[in-house]
Amino acid sequence: MDHFLYRDGTLRAEDVPVPEIAAAVGTPFYLYSTATFRRHFRLFDEALAGLDHLVCYAMKANSNQAILKLLAEMGAGMDVVSGGEYARAKAAGVPGERIVFSGVGKTREEMRMALEGGIRQFNVESEPELEALNDLAVTMGLKAPIAIRVNPDVDAKTHAKIATGKAENKFGIPISRARAVYDRAAGMAGVEITGIDVHIGSQLTDLEPFRQAYLKVKDLTRQLRADGHDIRRLDLGGGLGIPYQRGNEAPPLPTEYGALIRETLGDLGCEIEIEPGRLIAGNAGIMVSRVIYVKEGEGRKFLIVDSGMNDLIRPAMYEAHHDIVPVQEPAPGIARKTYDVVGPVCETGDTFARDRSMPPMRAGDLVAFRSAGAYGAVMASEYNSRPLIPEVLVNGDQFAVIRARPSYDEMINRDRIPEWL
Ligand code: LLP
Repeated sequence: MDHFLYRDGTLRAEDVPVPEIAAAVGTPFYLYSTATFRRHFRLFDEALAGLDHLVCYAMKANSNQAILKLLAEMGAGMDVVSGGEYARAKAAGVPGERIVFSGVGKTREEMRMALEGGIRQFNVESEPELEALNDLAVTMGLKAPIAIRVNPDVDAKTHAKIATGKAENKFGIPISRARAVYDRAAGMAGVEITGIDVHIGSQLTDLEPFRQAYLKVKDLTRQLRADGHDIRRLDLGGGLGIPYQRGNEAPPLPTEYGALIRETLGDLGCEIEIEPGRLIAGNAGIMVSRVIYVKEGEGRKFLIVDSGMNDLIRPAMYEAHHDIVPVQEPAPGIARKTYDVVGPVCETGDTFARDRSMPPMRAGDLVAFRSAGAYGAVMASEYNSRPLIPEVLVNGDQFAVIRARPSYDEMINRDRIPEWL
């Protein structure tokens, strides 16, 4: 559920008509709903009620300061994967003890930053990383809290580019090596074992792979405890999918996911962490664009809009589907047409949808790309020298620009011309 609904024939974000924002901000832009963000965070928090738990929002999905602040105020922790994300989380007021640090390639500088600023735990993804972290912590006279990310060799049944839990993926330590690595870690002066971490992929639409992974984590917890390790925390990653095609998809709900966690791991007495990103942010945002031209091709109709693959790369990168709806509600029963929805970027890959059935559209009309709140703005670039598009947050009947559109001058002035030119 989200808060982008038609009322009186016009799409609104909560109580604000979308055209009002388009007039004030210009198109294209990202538009987020505070109420939806809050609702989605609460769903996870409530799904784990009764268990000692922390929902660490995977901020890679959407890391705008305003979004982080609104979630942090609700008690969210953060899952960060870079020094930049750590800095953003701290800037938004998230205390170090609520930040977990994931990622296969943490540099020493990034690890130092987190050790100095405070960290709940590092999710360690390899033995060389473990050694580097230990060395660093010893020199700093600290003990770094760690979980080891295990790769359970489970097929997440999602797009190959976002599956992470198979043995051939670059993530984590093979679960078969885990006991040996925990033994090594236990002998290191600079690290303190707190638990186990696992994350098998993103946009999972079936609970079964989670079940398989979590049962493996359960076995491992018992083995490691028998080996004498203090396993008190389980970080179960993110990955719960969202419906991108309204009416056609019904992925499991956070309550069902929470029930699975309880059922598989609830009796271990561990503190549970989860790292959802997409489900919190995805349907809390849309991208609003204007149709520039309707072009009749050979046997095809192209809807050329003013946003491109640089603004929302998911269709080009993952063949992802985003529902595209007109901002003015179409008359009921109106005959639909078939469009290829494309952007202005000079690549055929700049295609948002092919053969998409839509109500008749005209130049100047506004359209909304749904489910664009996660992995939208954060993956944007200025390719074709198209400045990053603004982000706007609605709250009831008010809205605010939470990241402004840079001017052409601002974009150009980031470049430097060397003296010798
Ligand atoms: N934890 C870890 C360690 C992750 O790598 C990820 C996502 C998450 C949590 C959050 O997963 P989520 O709940 O959002 O599924 N750009 C791609 C998605 C990449 C996901 C990367 N890791 C897309 O647009 O589909």
